Amino acid sequence: MTKESHFTERGSAEAVNARMGDDINPRLAEVMASLVRHLHAFAKDVDLSQDEWELAIDFLTRTGQICSEERQEFILLSDTLGFSMLVDAINNRRPSGATENTVFGPFHVDGAPIRKMGDNICFDGKGESCLYQGCVLDRAGVPIEGAIVDVWSDNADGYYDVQQPDVQPKFNNRGRFITGADGVYRFVGIKPVSYPIPDDGPVGKMLAALGRHPNRPAHLHFLVTAQGYQKIVTHIFDGKDKWLASDAVFGVKQSLIAPFEPVEGDTKWRADFDFVMCEM
Ligand code: BEZ
Ligand code: FE
Repeated sequence: MTKESHFTERGSAEAVNARMGDDINPRLAEVMASLVRHLHAFAKDVDLSQDEWELAIDFLTRTGQICSEERQEFILLSDTLGFSMLVDAINNRRPSGATENTVFGPFHVDGAPIRKMGDNICFDGKGESCLYQGCVLDRAGVPIEGAIVDVWSDNADGYYDVQQPDVQPKFNNRGRFITGADGVYRFVGIKPVSYPIPDDGPVGKMLAALGRHPNRPAHLHFLVTAQGYQKIVTHIFDGKDKWLASDAVFGVKQSLIAPFEPVEGDTKWRADFDFVMCEM
């Protein structure tokens, strides 16, 4: 490594990294040194102008300023740059046959009510009802008892209950189901609809400037946990959705597309989907 004693354009990253103390956390040293190298290489690669640097600082400032308890614009930035999906992929490499992860998103709520198998989770009377059912299995196909299937979705207008606390009933389109010995889960919800991610802030402006739309294809979120197994954070998608190939947050995976079949009777649709968990 070149040890420049003063800052030069050529040796810029080395000059910064050489300042690190000897007695620091080795992982911090590794991550920060790489970050500095890539950041400096990026500025050199695009020949970054002073105006562009100021624009970037202003963008990041506005991104921070819009963050609150209810809104996390930095995660949205990470999501829309495909970075959340990349980190998720790096951290959840699974053997084939196991259910794949996808982006968590900002609308999960801890402690949703535990419901009875077969319950309806839609309380605003909107949307087309859909029966969801399947099995939670291990990789050998053996049912997992005591798995918690935590589900959440937007309503038929494309909003989560937490986005409309004065409009939607609390815990609308949410619930947790605990599997019995047969590993089966079953509930009635709505056939999901597509919706735009929050796009009234800096990230929305960035998407517009890049000629990108903010929409997510229709999906239902799941968090599946069971003692001794890796948790699954995933969705099931409606394969007929028009945004499937251009999800604003890159969350779609082929294996997560569920068959939504029209049915006769109380519910209009049915979607069967099994979850296959990997041991810890
Ligand atoms: C969601 O699907 O709920 C979501 C995911 C990422 C960003 C915004 C929303
Ligand atoms: Fe969602």
